[in-house]
Amino acid sequence: MFESLLNCSILKRAQEKDIIRIVLTNIRDFATDSYRKVDDKPYGGGPGMVMMPGPVFDCAEHVQKLSPEKGRGILLTPQGQKFTQAKAVELSKENRLILIAGKYEGFDERIRIGLGAEQVSVGDYVLNGGELAAMVIIDTVVRLLPGALGDEDSPRDESFSNGLLEYPQYTKPEAFRNMKVPDILLSGNHAKIAQWRHQQAIERTKKNRPDLIKNNKF
Ligand code: ADE
Repeated sequence: MFESLLNCSILKRAQEKDIIRIVLTNIRDFATDSYRKVDDKPYGGGPGMVMMPGPVFDCAEHVQKLSPEKGRGILLTPQGQKFTQAKAVELSKENRLILIAGKYEGFDERIRIGLGAEQVSVGDYVLNGGELAAMVIIDTVVRLLPGALGDEDSPRDESFSNGLLEYPQYTKPEAFRNMKVPDILLSGNHAKIAQWRHQQAIERTKKNRPDLIKNNKF
């Protein structure tokens, strides 16, 4: 699953430039039976399966020992705190992250307690497993690391960096199927353009994400 993400342009370049090193480890390799079982039925009954502590602990401890850097442990689960751009910025300052992905029904609680890992969710929906969530975190955090993006991909004004969604963007051609680029963007008046963009960003955020406006101090 991770291969295609890690071989895409920005992540590939970041690894080649030694900005990041990503080590993938399969929890199943730490199962102790011949079926490579890593989950079991929940105590107390109920549907679904729960990740067993043994293989997850052994796997996490194995990964921890690969580097003297302790690493910040993160359990991917819909029960976690919501992953945001601010959280991505926070995580991008860490030297090492250990992302632990399990099945959607969740982890035995002793994994969180014993590993001292924080729980993180990438959104209010349930994925089939934490792998995609781990990829979301990798992708978002890596692009914040110095040198990971070329100038052309600069993250300066993008959505959420100032608590607002990004303003509408236009590129060539000037007219397309009767739709024209707004005159202001062709005016060369940078102060006016900045003002227009800010206004547009506010309008768009109000319409699409009113929840962001509430906590905003723009
Ligand atoms: N695993 C399943 N759903 C998830 C979510 N929304 N966030 C993080 N991990 C998950």
